[in-house]
Amino acid sequence: MLATKADRFAEAVSRLGSESAFEVLARARALEAQGKRVVHMEIGEPDFDTPDHIKEAGIRAIRENHSHYTPSQGILELRDVVAAYASKFRHIEPWTAENVVLSPGAKPIIWNILSALLSPGDEFVYFDPAYPAYASCANYLGAKTVPIPLLEEKNWRMDLDELERRVSDRTKAIMINSPHNPTGGVLTKEDLERIAAMAQRHDFVVISDEIYSRNFYDREFNSIVSVPGMRDRTIVIDGFSKAYAMTGWRLGYAIMAPEYAKYVTLFNNNTFSCVASFVQQAGIAALTGDDEPVVRMNNIFRERRDALINGINKIDGMSCTMPEGAFYAFPNVTKITSDDKALAAYLLQESGVACLGGSAFGAAGKGYLRFSYAASLDDIHYALEQMALKIPQFKG
Ligand SMILES: Cc1ncc(COP(=O)(O)O)c(C=O)c1O
Repeated sequence: MLATKADRFAEAVSRLGSESAFEVLARARALEAQGKRVVHMEIGEPDFDTPDHIKEAGIRAIRENHSHYTPSQGILELRDVVAAYASKFRHIEPWTAENVVLSPGAKPIIWNILSALLSPGDEFVYFDPAYPAYASCANYLGAKTVPIPLLEEKNWRMDLDELERRVSDRTKAIMINSPHNPTGGVLTKEDLERIAAMAQRHDFVVISDEIYSRNFYDREFNSIVSVPGMRDRTIVIDGFSKAYAMTGWRLGYAIMAPEYAKYVTLFNNNTFSCVASFVQQAGIAALTGDDEPVVRMNNIFRERRDALINGINKIDGMSCTMPEGAFYAFPNVTKITSDDKALAAYLLQESGVACLGGSAFGAAGKGYLRFSYAASLDDIHYALEQMALKIPQFKG
């Protein structure tokens, strides 16, 4: 069997991680195909339909034959719109189209940014637990990954003194993500200012994954790029998937100094060439059209968050901090088991609740579960009832 010979594959492939949400989604769909009711709280995508005006713009764009290649950086019109929207939203001196690079979803641009920045052995700091793509890509590239734990007792923020000890002149880049997947944690303005001071002192780049910038509940959104001195040192990642319920359209972007944009665009050019042209047209409609659907979806998320956290905290053995952003809850289940993945598998099989084991997001996620509350209130109440019923019988 030639295809399975170990040395047939690149050595670096063994360092790739994967996003377990897609595997659990496949298992959950298989159970549904057998007629079982499943509540989908595993995958991080809004359950809402894309707002009508965005859909119409996409359909119109296909009819008007926006069906050809575009520049690898993205069409000028959408890059202009992104630059205007993003600078206004973050209260900074306006970016221009030169600063913006488009991508089919935010995920590929994470890969292209890290590929443009990291050489083998370079130190890359990120926070654990984390969106799996960061460490997967950095490890693939042969960078030295430096995970800093996020702490439940700090509402899923880091110990800044610990961070201070772990960064140095060897640090090439740091990835922050606020609001945070998988915990829903949010960094404070003071956290961002201290991280910015470290970046300036040690001359490293900050990559700020702000894909949940519109899924924000109790406070004002703050971006590290707004801290004085950070404009040219920060690469901001954002996109349309979460705010506009456009996960399947595949549209994201990053904003950076033009010198970085040149290399990230080169990676676009070498990989996917460009984002589908009619999808870019739909992106213009999303950012220039009525914002009401975004606000409405967010208000619904907030209601679901409150119901879910309240319910989880009533289940014996589970406890959960209040997420301040994104649409995830990350309850502690260490009183039930240390094997979070086994508990997640049990909940799917026995109670039809699809969620993820926290250890899928890094070592510091061990003993937690991740629930996406992109599910209806009805489904959330059903899931809570099922868990309360089945968890006492779990033998982990
Ligand atoms: C933190 C984070 N960054 C980036 C992404 C990628 O989003 P997209 O669907 O735009 O590729 C996700 C998706 O789950 C995410 O959670």
